[in-house]
Amino acid sequence: MRARRNKVKRRATGLCVRLLDRVTLQVRSGGEIVARVDGFALNLGKVSAAAADRAQELRSGVPLSSFASHKTSAEKQLEQLVRRLAARGLIEYRLAGQAPHKAPHIGDHIIIEPQLPDYWPRMQKLRQTDRLVLSRFAYLRRRAGEMVLESPRAPALFRIRNPEIAALLVALSTPQQVRALRRQTNFPGIELLALLIDSHVLFKVGTNDEGLRATEGGGDLVVWDFHDLLFHARSTEGRHANPAGGIYPYVGVIDSPPAVRPAWPGEKIDLCNLSEASTAADSAAAKLLRERHSVRNFDDRRPITLAELARFLDATARVGSIEKIPLDPARPGGPMLAHTMRPYPSAGASYELELYIAIDKCEGLPRGFYHYDAAAHALTLIPAHRHWCEALLKSAQSAMGEASVPQVLITVAARFGRMSWKYSSIAYALILKDVGVLLQTFYLMATDMGLGGCAIGTANIDLFAKMTGLEFHREGPVGQFALGRAAEAPASS
Ligand SMILES: Cc1cc2nc3c(=O)[nH]c(=O)nc-3n(C[C@H](O)[C@H](O)[C@H](O)COP(=O)(O)O)c2cc1C
Repeated sequence: MRARRNKVKRRATGLCVRLLDRVTLQVRSGGEIVARVDGFALNLGKVSAAAADRAQELRSGVPLSSFASHKTSAEKQLEQLVRRLAARGLIEYRLAGQAPHKAPHIGDHIIIEPQLPDYWPRMQKLRQTDRLVLSRFAYLRRRAGEMVLESPRAPALFRIRNPEIAALLVALSTPQQVRALRRQTNFPGIELLALLIDSHVLFKVGTNDEGLRATEGGGDLVVWDFHDLLFHARSTEGRHANPAGGIYPYVGVIDSPPAVRPAWPGEKIDLCNLSEASTAADSAAAKLLRERHSVRNFDDRRPITLAELARFLDATARVGSIEKIPLDPARPGGPMLAHTMRPYPSAGASYELELYIAIDKCEGLPRGFYHYDAAAHALTLIPAHRHWCEALLKSAQSAMGEASVPQVLITVAARFGRMSWKYSSIAYALILKDVGVLLQTFYLMATDMGLGGCAIGTANIDLFAKMTGLEFHREGPVGQFALGRAAEAPASS
């Protein structure tokens, strides 16, 4: 008994996993373990009595190293339980006790908050001669009463409560050898460095490499400005653990801004008489604009057909022609750039947007996840796992607050580099503007064809990366549109 207690005590240094403060674990009869969080109960499956006992240690922290050897079946079960808790965002990690005698507190007080559900800290081996530098995407900021170290590339954020670690980060703005870092009196321990590398907050560079923009990541990362990658990662779902969506966070804090802007003082020029006179002779375009509305509920007995989908894509997104123009028209003989013509406008004629189509019900087309080849006007099946396709469709369903998934879900993805290769500072903003233009094009064509559709404000960029195998910063979702045949509106009594 005493030997075991000693063991636990010794292990309490290093990297520990623990439950978030707002989570409690309960064991029900039969060994079922339930996590209670914010009034919800989440069933985590069955564990043995020994594993349930060990699970209570998660309140104060269980060393991650205890999972490495799996000496007992209880340890194996505990790791499985921790992975289930991790997938639901209910745990955090604490790095403690690696300090040298000169600064005994230094290794404490680093809390690691997972931002991706499948984050699992890994320690890369570091050699004395390795040179490390801070990523240009990493930043330290105040969050409530503490400092957090984050990066849009990182699967976790680091709560840093010790100024010595901030000083170390400043030193790492130029490459530093591990050997030299170790000699510093405030060295926080090799584990922290290894974890920061694992999270892309630090990266290794070669001998004569200063770790500047061109060195970090491949060509797909070079083209990203700091603020653009941060905006992309933080403004939709998938790569952060913050609340997202229409949760009305400021009810009771400030009044809702008015639906219509209060009028400017001053004399008004009345336009009503002028526009009313021409309403009788509304153009087809004006009628389409008036008729357009969002449709979230689809008639699953009469799904959209493949021919309709083909016509929809042809009219909205197909490449009409390809031409080559000089990069600088004033300099004939210089580099040439290829441009396409398509039905909707695009900033700089970049046409960086790609359409990925998840099918639930479409007559003539099997369920699955397809890429629309806009030049060939063809669909290519992407072998994405079925449960990911279902997750994609279900998240659209929940964004629309409907009882069933849409017949077709179009994910608008951007090839980011196509836009940022040309535009500095404004690339991501231009991409989002292009998405708006394309969504309205979809709305109008759906209305014209007697179909229904609805824009969807969020997309899970991590799920898309899993489905396509593409890194989130190479090509990723920036918009979604549900499409199908509208269910008939219930007859009004
Ligand atoms: C960018 C954008 C995002 C939207 N996101 C959602 C969404 O996530 N869920 C939803 O039900 N409707 C969404 N909508 C539809 C709007 O709620 C809808 O356009 C608005 O209520 C006006 O209604 P109407 O389109 O029928 O005229 C979105 C619309 C736009 C333009």
